[in-house]
Parts: sequence; C-alpha cells; structure tokens
Amino acid sequence: MPVVLRRGGAQDGRFLRDMLHHAYYWRERVPGSLTSRYVRGWGRAGDTAVIALESGFPVGAAWFRLFRAEEPGYGYVGEGTPELAIAVVPSKRGHGIGDELLKALLEKARDGGFARLSLSVEPGNPARKLYERHGFEVVDQGAEAWTMVASIAPTTD
Ligand SMILES: CC(C)(COP(=O)(O)OP(=O)(O)OC[C@H]1O[C@@H](n2cnc3c(N)ncnc32)[C@H](O)[C@@H]1OP(=O)(O)O)[C@@H](O)C(=O)NCCC(=O)NCCS
Repeated sequence: MPVVLRRGGAQDGRFLRDMLHHAYYWRERVPGSLTSRYVRGWGRAGDTAVIALESGFPVGAAWFRLFRAEEPGYGYVGEGTPELAIAVVPSKRGHGIGDELLKALLEKARDGGFARLSLSVEPGNPARKLYERHGFEVVDQGAEAWTMVASIAPTTD
C-alpha cells in the first residue's frame, strides 16, 4: 500500500498522543514522567509534525517542538533546538515509513530555519540506526537514555 505524507496540524494532537505511547511507552509509567510535554496543547508556535497515511488512515508520525529550560523534554539541549519524537504503528514497521517521516521532518526543520534537532533514545532501541543514518550523533550517554543531535545544513539555493 502506498504511503502518503502530509503536514500535521493542531487537529492531529490526538493521533500524536497515541503515537507517543509507542515512542515513549517505557517512560510513561515512571513517576514524574515528562512524556505528556511532547503533545500537551499541541499546535503552539514552532510545533511541527508530519503524518504518514495509508488508505487515508494515519499509520505513523514524526514531530518536533521547542521546550523551555524550566520545562524540558528528555532530549533537551537548548531553547532554540526543537526535540523530535517519532513512531509508526506496530503492524507497519520495517517498511521504510519511519525513514520517510524522518527525512520529511528534517526538511521541515530546515525550512523553519532551525540549525539543529535533538532527541532522546534508549541505547538498545533499533531506532538509533535510523537516527544515525540521518545524521544524528550521540552528545550525552545517560544510563537509561542517550541524547542525540543532528545539525541541519541550510539549503544553498
Ligand atoms: C523507530 C520507528 C519509528 C521506525 O519506523 P519504521 O517504519 O519501522 O522504520 P523503517 O522501516 O524506515 O526502518 C528504519 C529503521 O528502523 C528500525 N526498525 C525497523 N523495523 C523495526 C521494528 N519493527 N521495530 C523497531 N525498529 C525497527 C531499524 O533500525 C531500521 O533500520 P534498518 O532498515 O537499517 O534495519 C518504528 O520502528 C517505531 O515506531 N518504533 C517504536 C517507537 C520508537 O521506538 N520510537 C523512537 C523513540 S526514541
């Protein structure tokens, strides 16, 4: 089935919340979990998402948002650097959708004039390979999660 990507909007907050369960399931049950910060009040300035659709139904999403130092995400590196989250529904993984989503989101970050994107990932998560392929490098190795950052080269034209 062909997959179509579209830009996400404020109306996609609910789907992003569903996807967040997949992306950060391992953190949701920890007391003091920060995960709701990735979607709460979705649609504020800087919020950017790409949604993957198959036969009109959403099957995955990648998104980023800016955090403040006093209310950071897990992969926070600074106020001007948005943090990324990504997930594909379990039955559709391994077919390149995550790769397409990440590529499209990096383009949106470039269009938005951002110099970098960050994220937080469990060291054993196979998603790390995907991130590395798209230029993310580890900048901090915590016991449970690593922070990665990608520099986004501005277009020359
Ligand atoms: C990570 C994820 C978004 C990748 O989406 P995808 O559509 O499966 O990705 P692709 O098919 O483009 O494959 C890209 C890479 O994802 C990883 N991957 C592939 N299938 C996977 C699966 N079933 N489960 C986890 N990771 C998988 C592999 O490293 C793959 O790289 P490879 O092709 O070199 O082996 C998706 O697997 C997912 O939703 N995982 C659970 C949520 C998650 O961990 N999010 C990241 C939190 S930091």
